[in-house]
Amino acid sequence: MAVEGTLEGKVALVTGAAQGIGLATAVMLARAGANVVALDLPGANWEPLRNGCAAVGQRLETVECDVADEASWEQVTGVVRRTFGRLDIMFNNAGISGPSRALWDYPVADFDKVMLINCRGVFLGMKCAASLMQSGGSIINMSSVSGLGGGRFLLAYNASKHAVIGMTKVAAVELAERNIRVNAICPAMTETPMMLSLEAGKTEAEIAALRARFAAMIPLARYAQPEEIGAVVLFLASDASSFVTGAALPVDGGLKAQ
Ligand SMILES: NC(=O)c1ccc[n+]([C@@H]2O[C@H](COP(=O)([O-])OP(=O)(O)OC[C@H]3O[C@@H](n4cnc5c(N)ncnc54)[C@H](O)[C@@H]3O)[C@@H](O)[C@H]2O)c1
Repeated sequence: MAVEGTLEGKVALVTGAAQGIGLATAVMLARAGANVVALDLPGANWEPLRNGCAAVGQRLETVECDVADEASWEQVTGVVRRTFGRLDIMFNNAGISGPSRALWDYPVADFDKVMLINCRGVFLGMKCAASLMQSGGSIINMSSVSGLGGGRFLLAYNASKHAVIGMTKVAAVELAERNIRVNAICPAMTETPMMLSLEAGKTEAEIAALRARFAAMIPLARYAQPEEIGAVVLFLASDASSFVTGAALPVDGGLKAQ
């Protein structure tokens, strides 16, 4: 599903790039011609990303840090400036789901952690991008269908993904005069380690029932593949979306159309 050559020579930063949607998208960006700065937590396994980019001529830099940590972003800014001197594309993708608990049982420490990573992390990522993007650019923030409505048991996740859409709209308006576009994407269930972790410890029958229950919520009746989310990121990163900014785009198999 790579869009060969459309991002030739651009510099893209992807957070949470060692697995899941971030990994798939980082590989697709490289295959489309972009140089990639990949960010993930210390100790991340970079092998899948290195393998994915191996046959591609583009440059890959990895940085290990926590997106919620302000000081880490100074390090990231330094790496991008020294290595490429500019930034064109920023995909603020890193996030965690937090525990699945009812409001009255939801631990405050988990609420704070989810907000720090999913919300503060995106805020800091956008600040970094705004300082590095000199002649326009595209910022894509990871929200979720959980940012478009309510639901049960994922209160902090839901709040953080709503906040991502709010921050996206403010940033889109403020950065428009510098020709920096800012959009959010709102995927439904996507087959990644985060999604598959919901199946841990379950029997085969329980897993089948869980998958069937989720699929039944989606008109296209299946999970997304990470590359189907990456394809939308590439669209928003490219000039094909040159008049799109401030949008919160569902990528959800029709879930939110119902
Ligand atoms: N999988 C889905 O169904 C789904 C649906 C909608 C939105 N999303 C969102 O997409 C994004 C990626 O999800 P995924 O399913 O690929 O998850 P994943 O858990 O498979 O991958 C997330 C990556 O982010 C990294 N990460 C987590 N916290 C970090 C931090 N503090 N600093 C730096 N890196 C960090 C992890 O190490 C991991 O490599 C998340 O923001 C998630 O909320 C996922």
